[in-house]
Amino acid sequence: MKYNYLIVGSGLFGSIFAYEANKKGKKCLVIDKRNHIGGNIYTEEVEGINVHKYGAHIFHTSNKKVWEYIQQFAQFNRYTNSPIANYKGEIYNMPFNMNTFNKLWGVVTPEEAKAKINEQIKESGITEPHNLEEQAISLVGKDIYEKLVKGYTQKQWGRPCHELPAFIIKRLPVRFTYDNNYFNDLYQGIPIGGYTQIIEKMLSGIEVRLNCDFFEHRKELENIADKIIFTGMIDQYYDYCYGELEYRSLKFEEEILDTENYQGNAVVNYNEYEVPYTRIIEHKHFEYGTQPKTVITREYPATWQKGDEPYYPMNDEKNNALYSKYKALADKEDKVIFGGRLGMYKYFDMHHVIEEALKCVQNNLD
Ligand code: FDA
Repeated sequence: MKYNYLIVGSGLFGSIFAYEANKKGKKCLVIDKRNHIGGNIYTEEVEGINVHKYGAHIFHTSNKKVWEYIQQFAQFNRYTNSPIANYKGEIYNMPFNMNTFNKLWGVVTPEEAKAKINEQIKESGITEPHNLEEQAISLVGKDIYEKLVKGYTQKQWGRPCHELPAFIIKRLPVRFTYDNNYFNDLYQGIPIGGYTQIIEKMLSGIEVRLNCDFFEHRKELENIADKIIFTGMIDQYYDYCYGELEYRSLKFEEEILDTENYQGNAVVNYNEYEVPYTRIIEHKHFEYGTQPKTVITREYPATWQKGDEPYYPMNDEKNNALYSKYKALADKEDKVIFGGRLGMYKYFDMHHVIEEALKCVQNNLD
């Protein structure tokens, strides 16, 4: 065998594994079907701004080990995710908190806000929600639902809320403090200079082949290494023998604007149904940029069809059951290890991926 490990996918999972294996003297080949490394955390410089090519990526974790691990590869800034919502030109803070309630109703104290929400929940008379609309109203009342939940959710799922099942929304986080920080984690930030440098450092000195799809060269690649770390789609690996797993997709529309500051915040959600995109990212604000121009990305929800980019695994009962059949096949493999969000069919944030990749390293390399 030419290599100890063939690593399919140069995303965060594959790159961490490659880095750790290389450190231990293992010979690795990393392949990726895209024309760049990094998977979905890839950033690219445009007009001097680090553009998050696959959607806003904000690093957050409460795991000290993970936080320390990632800092080997970049210095992080103090960015705190505090998105805002634009509903027909009215601006509200997210997640729903005292600033939101003050803007909605003029209430000032947490007690007043709670009373208002409870009054609306009571008025609705919903005791057993039958659909997402009823579920949301029974959790936060009609004002928040109408302005901040309804249109956005409808766009995301491509169906009216009263036709969506109630279980999609289990809870709607409501905060009775004047705190706009989206995450509750201990550590949070954006790598100064973007994410791609992290992957570049991880893969430094390791052979990488881009524009190389495993399935196009399967025969050659399957026997090129002692073991394979596979971070692509697990159902595709098994030739969809039990059927196709489902995903949600997105479309990104990027634009350079000849203005210094377009929207004053990195993330602005557009909550009314009539605006076709769900949010606009203004990338420079992730790193407090002062460049003369700006780059924005409109994010559109999209239904996924085979061949589209599979962004979010749909971890509902049906798909999880299907995944467990593929997982049973994977468990019998002694040559192939599946990892990452597509290999393990799970919505993972970056910190989860680091935890999983380090577990995989421990189980296979230590
Ligand atoms: P990833 O998908 O990144 O990498 C897999 C790689 O394998 C890809 O490069 C792909 O091209 C390659 N590949 C697949 N099949 C192949 C084949 N057949 N042959 C060769 N190569 C193949 N997380 C977070 O912590 N904070 C955040 O704010 C966000 N925001 C966010 C926004 C959006 C829109 C998305 C989609 C995701 C996020 N995330 C996030 C999650 C984050 O992107 C995610 O945790 C990691 O990128 C996952 O890394 P993986 O290596 O698992 O997969």
